[in-house]
Amino acid sequence: MTADEPLVIVERHPARHVALVRFNRPKQLNALNGQVMDELCSALEALDRDDEVRCMVVTGNERAFAAGADIGEMATATPIDMLQGNRIAQWDRVRRISKPVIAAVNGWCLGGGCELAMALDLIVAGEGARFGQPEINLGVIPGAGGTQRLVRAIGKSRAMEMVLTGEPIGAGEALRLGLVSRVVPDELVVGDALALAATIATKSPIALRLAKESVNAAFELSLTDGLAHERRLFYLLFASEDQKEGMAAFLEKRDPDFKGR
Ligand code: CAA
Repeated sequence: MTADEPLVIVERHPARHVALVRFNRPKQLNALNGQVMDELCSALEALDRDDEVRCMVVTGNERAFAAGADIGEMATATPIDMLQGNRIAQWDRVRRISKPVIAAVNGWCLGGGCELAMALDLIVAGEGARFGQPEINLGVIPGAGGTQRLVRAIGKSRAMEMVLTGEPIGAGEALRLGLVSRVVPDELVVGDALALAATIATKSPIALRLAKESVNAAFELSLTDGLAHERRLFYLLFASEDQKEGMAAFLEKRDPDFKGR
């Protein structure tokens, strides 16, 4: 790999309306330095604006999805460096992507890598994937959402054990705990995630966007407010051509042709 090679590679599959975003920092196990995160966020934001793309997949390689934030970049930092650099703000850019994004995880998914996978919409894992928040071994704590999202994903007790010991869990346990949506053989992870993305991409892009927004609101709102929010989004969809098309297609016993309008 040369110095000017991109650290994130984008592959489009226009016929299926999906795109694959792949980390390209294999020697460092895709450790997420500032440049990787910037390239990732820029790629996702560009795909989010592209009408031809309806669902994205983010992946690493067979050894690692990502082994965390780049320790070399942080090792000698002062609090003021951390504050002024505010690298963790990059994770907020991921959160603002409006289209569904699937994490396809093989190998290590640690620290900021696990936090990134959890910030995406769902996780497809290979059998050999390992998830963990090992920051405690470095004398720090998760800083990009690990203490918050992991608790919501798998419950307090198990999340607490993972955060306090730094010990990773395997894909089988991650599935049992609800951290990941499915586990497949390692060599099928990217293909399976792309097939899932292609299935999602057959749906109305407007409904997908509001579905994602509504599910994510469940983390922020009370049940009463969440139900009211969901109902408003549901009613709003009756302004779309896709709602008319989807319901007409059902009644006419044919497949819908969603246009995202
Ligand atoms: N940052 C920078 N470099 C990393 C890295 C990271 N997070 N993880 C791995 N690397 C580098 C290693 O330094 C090594 O580089 P060299 O070949 O130049 O020495 C290379 O990747 C391969 O790593 P190992 O030789 O260690 O590979 P291994 O198979 O023996 O071990 C591993 C794999 C268990 C994942 C081990 O690399 C490891 O423990 N990595 C660190 C994991 C970690 O602590 N992540 C949390 C980071 S802090 C964070 O993410 C904060 C936050 O919340 C935002």
